[in-house]
Amino acid sequence: MDFDGLAAALSRMDPVRQVGRVAVVEESILRVTGLSRHARLGDQVLLLTGDRRVAGEVMRIGDSDIMVMPYEDLQGVSRGDRVVLTGASDLAPDDSWIGRVIDPFGLPLDGAPIRPGGLARLLRAAPPDPAGREGLGARLETGMAVFNTMLPVARGQRIGLFAGSGVGKSSLIAHFARAIEADVVVIALIGERGRELRDFVQDVLGPEGMARTVVVAATSDRLPLVRRRCAQAAMTVAEHFRDRGCDVLLLADSMTRFAEAHREVATASGEIPSLRGYPPSTAHALMNLCERAGPAGPEQGAITAILSVLVAGSDMEEPVADILRGVLDGHVVLDRAIAERGRYPAIDLLRSVSRSLPGVATPDENETIAAVRQMLGTYEKSEILVRAGLYTEGANPELDRAVRAWPELDAFIAEAEANDTRNSFNRLRLILRRAGAGAPSQAQRGASRHGTGASQPAAQLPALPRARVPSGTLQEVLPPPDFAR
Ligand SMILES: Nc1ncnc2c1ncn2[C@@H]1O[C@H](COP(=O)(O)OP(=O)(O)OP(=O)(O)O)[C@@H](O)[C@H]1O
Ligand SMILES: [Mg+2]
Repeated sequence: MDFDGLAAALSRMDPVRQVGRVAVVEESILRVTGLSRHARLGDQVLLLTGDRRVAGEVMRIGDSDIMVMPYEDLQGVSRGDRVVLTGASDLAPDDSWIGRVIDPFGLPLDGAPIRPGGLARLLRAAPPDPAGREGLGARLETGMAVFNTMLPVARGQRIGLFAGSGVGKSSLIAHFARAIEADVVVIALIGERGRELRDFVQDVLGPEGMARTVVVAATSDRLPLVRRRCAQAAMTVAEHFRDRGCDVLLLADSMTRFAEAHREVATASGEIPSLRGYPPSTAHALMNLCERAGPAGPEQGAITAILSVLVAGSDMEEPVADILRGVLDGHVVLDRAIAERGRYPAIDLLRSVSRSLPGVATPDENETIAAVRQMLGTYEKSEILVRAGLYTEGANPELDRAVRAWPELDAFIAEAEANDTRNSFNRLRLILRRAGAGAPSQAQRGASRHGTGASQPAAQLPALPRARVPSGTLQEVLPPPDFAR
């Protein structure tokens, strides 16, 4: 018998429950009487209607009634049905969740039983105290030459992947899930297609990738409140492991779906849209979530976050992209034209920035990065002329060098690189030298190291239980499980 699990469940039980009654039923909203003196904003309720149990969340509290939004459809609900107040929206992650695919309520989507942890954490927790937070850590190995050199990802950094539809966001997220150094990877799949979830878990991550990963998923068929909760639940799981002293990689695909879910929830509960269709609370919802990631106190691990953002028509001024670009510590822009000519990842290097630079690289490395950027900039300014054959070599020596280096730099961006950042920098210098541009000397090269130091060896971190990947294959993505079970 699982006494720990039983004890944890008992400790979370509340012996006294307030009960109200459904007064008004609308398409996606309920008004409930009898709970307005007891409910707090964001609390959860359980609606008892016939044999069905429908969970929901308190969205607004009035004098005589509260407004509740359900996690499932309200089919069959009628006036007078009982509504039980079940307490704050929380989640109790457990170390044993590594290797598992769960929904935003911590219920399994992979068919095996799951055990909640002993400590329930608020889904909308506050970010760590700014005064006690550490700075960004060392550069992480990413498995790609371009990210190890030109666009470094530091421990605790938060980066956005911005791109139009079908330009390769999810593929890059999948690469990071397998390749970036981290103790635990938490992946939020928000509003994605159900088929993508199966492919991602079975084919992309496979048993090896899943051995250090928790996947939290709410596919596009789930109601907006559940999709919004998905990002919050994934962050809560990441915080659990961070507080255990682990370095966590949090990947979210996509933040746009999170913002859209928030918009649907907020407008259904009466907020007026303003920011080009988004209600004003969207900015706060996005910023709060992003602020929870990042470095924490000295005894804790850090949450490094990579979040995908869909930018319709590559419009970076679109509200969600604009808010996120401001709050994150870096943005990677993927370009459709580059994808169309078949160069993946389709990173537009000149429009992408990692704000961990220059601190995370050595002076020598920063010099190389600046030289490469300058050369790509020179090429881009005259690219149309060059491609049209209207440029004659010799007219501009700087452009001559850029034209010579460009094919090699373009290929460099697509390269995989297994844990040898120093070698990648040396190759960049070689490309610059071959093109005739000044590059840092051999002596300087010898001094180049991994930025501010290598990241912590895994051996210093607390031991976690071995990942438990459920046997058998991932089940069909299940219909929304009964929350009340
Ligand atoms: N590294 C890669 N190598 C080859 N092809 C790729 C690569 N990355 C992406 N693609 C191609 O681009 C297509 C779309 O990729 P992906 O699903 O990652 O894009 P997305 O931006 O997540 O799309 P959506 O906006 O629909 O979610 C893939 O089906 C594949 O054909
Ligand atoms: Mg995608």
